[in-house]
Amino acid sequence: MALKWWQKTVVYQVYPKSFMDTTGSGQGDIRGITEKLDYLKTLGVGAVWLTPVYRSPMVDNGYDIADYKSIDPSYGTMKDMENLIAEAKDRNIRIVMDLVYNHTSDQHAWFRESRKSRDNAKSDWYIWRDAKEDGAPPTNWRSIFGGSAWTWCEERQQYYLHTFASQQPDLNWENPQVRQALYDAANFWLEKGVGGFRIDAIVYIKKPKELLDGVPDGGDDMVNIHTMTANTPGILDFLREFKEKVFAGHDIFTVAEANGVGPEDLKHWVGENGIFDMLFEFSHTCLEFPEGEIWYKAEGYSPRLIPRLKACLSASQAATASDGWYPIFFENHDQPRCVRHFFPDEADPGAAAKAMAMTLFTLRGTPFVYQGQELGMDNVAWDSIEDYDDISSHGQYELAIQSGCSPEKAIRAVHRYSRDNARTPMQWDRGRQAGFTSGTPWLPVHEDYAMCCVEAEAQEETSVLSFYRRLSHLRREGNAAEVLQGGSYRELLPEREDIFAFCRKLRGRETFTFVNFTGKTADYDKELLEGAELLLGSMENACKGTLRPYEAVCYYRESETEVRSDENCRQ
Ligand code: GLC
Repeated sequence: MALKWWQKTVVYQVYPKSFMDTTGSGQGDIRGITEKLDYLKTLGVGAVWLTPVYRSPMVDNGYDIADYKSIDPSYGTMKDMENLIAEAKDRNIRIVMDLVYNHTSDQHAWFRESRKSRDNAKSDWYIWRDAKEDGAPPTNWRSIFGGSAWTWCEERQQYYLHTFASQQPDLNWENPQVRQALYDAANFWLEKGVGGFRIDAIVYIKKPKELLDGVPDGGDDMVNIHTMTANTPGILDFLREFKEKVFAGHDIFTVAEANGVGPEDLKHWVGENGIFDMLFEFSHTCLEFPEGEIWYKAEGYSPRLIPRLKACLSASQAATASDGWYPIFFENHDQPRCVRHFFPDEADPGAAAKAMAMTLFTLRGTPFVYQGQELGMDNVAWDSIEDYDDISSHGQYELAIQSGCSPEKAIRAVHRYSRDNARTPMQWDRGRQAGFTSGTPWLPVHEDYAMCCVEAEAQEETSVLSFYRRLSHLRREGNAAEVLQGGSYRELLPEREDIFAFCRKLRGRETFTFVNFTGKTADYDKELLEGAELLLGSMENACKGTLRPYEAVCYYRESETEVRSDENCRQ
């Protein structure tokens, strides 16, 4: 089947607050994104996903929306947004908006009305419950950012539910008026010409009929709300309606954040009979969290992660082999930088970044690149929890302390998993504040910026940025492009604990990817590559059969008879 435009392109994720500041405010803005469209073009980007830019009190950096149809003044105006969409379109880039539909901000007019009384017009637009007899919250659920998932409201004398922060009350999707209001907002953006949607935290929109206590899983007698509400049966009915009223019939793509939707459920969510075009699932980014995402309990990086990473990636490739499509991603605004997540502390970030890039661009699926990933940007490690802005870092730190961890252990977990790792300003040049702002940046610029920035890397043939550009080019043009876009996937060397290797194949053309995830030289049988030529290597002088530490290579082979007979068929 012919591939759609979003299956052939590269998607780039922009975190607007940290991307480019044109006013000196210390925060990025929409004009800054427009200014950098030509840069994105050099990466072969066909769509830019913006995390939320709507009006918001910014408790969770825009994931707490106060008005779905307006732009936050800190980012600019609706005119700026329209201009961005138009300028992007001129460059064949589509702008993808983030729909945060599980919850709003507590400052949204809907919630301000709802909280006033038990009988106002919007009284059941959110999830309200009475206290238990002793005044305690209705259930023992812990919100994803820590603390109870219920907050008491004096005016109504009831609790309201929030999967995330207390300033992010959950909407009541059972109410048809709520659903219609959300569809209207999405249609508003479609009319403005956006090219797709990323749909936030969507697995939480359906709540169980009865809200019951769960078995505690931390040191605070609470249970993660995810365990109690994610993917509740009945959710697909809401989603089918959502599709019908909004996405159906538009030449856009949708990608849902669907934590916990595994390969077995996939067919209901994506593909021919599914709802979305793609979904983000997190099995490969949660490898070190066997018991749910509690940072202090995570084992951190260890070589044991590599076989698990391979297994997850292969499972997701298999799940979409005949139907459905995955976005391939290793970073986003909620994840640590991949050069630390999947590699030991001593690994050279440049080599690690290229190894990950090779994996990203040669697997089957649409590559999603998160800002700065193409430079090999690294994690930060600030001294005190007070230095961190990210609301979940604070929640996780508190939980660690409450559970008896020392402050040193608690901050180490924050260093490793804080979402601020990915949110430090984009590193444009060697100048003041890495060219991000003429003012004081809202988060400090990473200290490695003089080496790791667009200015330094653009001219350097062996840089991470140049490697990304080459990979993106290979996926778009030349003999291997079609294979890399649409070819089948077969894992090679599945028993190896150091090398991730796979083959892609389409009509007599094959690519072979070999990535060494360890700091040791790794040999493999070079017969596998008989007749194949090197397409791209992450280091100079690649040698068939041997990978140096963190080296990644991609080879290409074509079987003349198969290619020729296919071309004859197509004529
Ligand atoms: C998603 C977003 C995250 C946000 C949360 C609440 O997981 O990616 O950044 O904090 O939803 O909206």
